[in-house]
Amino acid sequence: MTTHAVRIESVSKIFNPGRPNEVQALVDIDLDISPGEFVTLIGPSGCGKSTLLRLIASLIDPTGGTIHVNGKSAEQARLDQDYGMAFQRAGLFDWRTVARNIELPLELMGWKKSERERRSKEMLELVKLGEFGDHHPAELSGGMQQRIAIARSLSFSPSLLLMDEPFGALDEMTREHMQDEVLRLWSETGTTVVFVTHSIPEAVYLSTRVVVMSPRPGRIATTIDVDLGGRNDDTRAETPFFEKVTEVRAALRAVEAA
Ligand SMILES: Nc1ncnc2c1ncn2[C@@H]1O[C@H](COP(=O)(O)OP(=O)(O)O)[C@@H](O)[C@H]1O
Ligand SMILES: [Mg+2]
Repeated sequence: MTTHAVRIESVSKIFNPGRPNEVQALVDIDLDISPGEFVTLIGPSGCGKSTLLRLIASLIDPTGGTIHVNGKSAEQARLDQDYGMAFQRAGLFDWRTVARNIELPLELMGWKKSERERRSKEMLELVKLGEFGDHHPAELSGGMQQRIAIARSLSFSPSLLLMDEPFGALDEMTREHMQDEVLRLWSETGTTVVFVTHSIPEAVYLSTRVVVMSPRPGRIATTIDVDLGGRNDDTRAETPFFEKVTEVRAALRAVEAA
């Protein structure tokens, strides 16, 4: 029996329970993710996508239910640094060079200087920014900054990568380029990815499975397998891609109308 990368059982989340500002954010979430999957969460704003990601990361605790990551409690997985995270804002420190931004988690984990430097070089090559290590983040474009943030989140080879609308602030062309970049990293590293977006084409292009969530209180309305094989320049112009986009759109319309 293989261990699930993520196992979510009967999870609910209520913020501020019993107070006037109580919010039921998630109800009855069941979701199993196998190692190596690329799962995208999609749904209307406020449906609990970020909350679900933060629960998996054990940044917050569920009100009910259980979450396991790599067969351990989410909390233990956090302590073991089993996952990396990337957000819409790259969140780089401008007083540090690009290389030293990538080294930051390794510093916190107590890696030796020589090992950190070797690793950050490797990561810069991986995201094709090898010559920018000595630059400061503000000197780079938004897309390049986001690649640095992704390099940082992968620096300690996490088995799980959690991404919350990482390309939401990028222009369309940069965004498509970044999607290819993240697919390349995914296939090169074998990392499991849980990705949040509200772009239907982005979800279909990236994922092996799209999880469609209903409006608040968030539930999983349906999951859609995406079997498009290896993506390339033509994928977005081909019929199977359009059919999947249409299928996901119909599922979203159905939950919004319900
Ligand atoms: N820390 C918090 N305290 C209170 N309410 C919150 C908190 N975080 C999120 N919420 C509420 O939970 C719901 C889901 O939020 P969120 O997960 O951010 O949605 P999404 O990422 O899908 O847009 C929203 O109604 C939001 O206002
Ligand atoms: Mg969100």
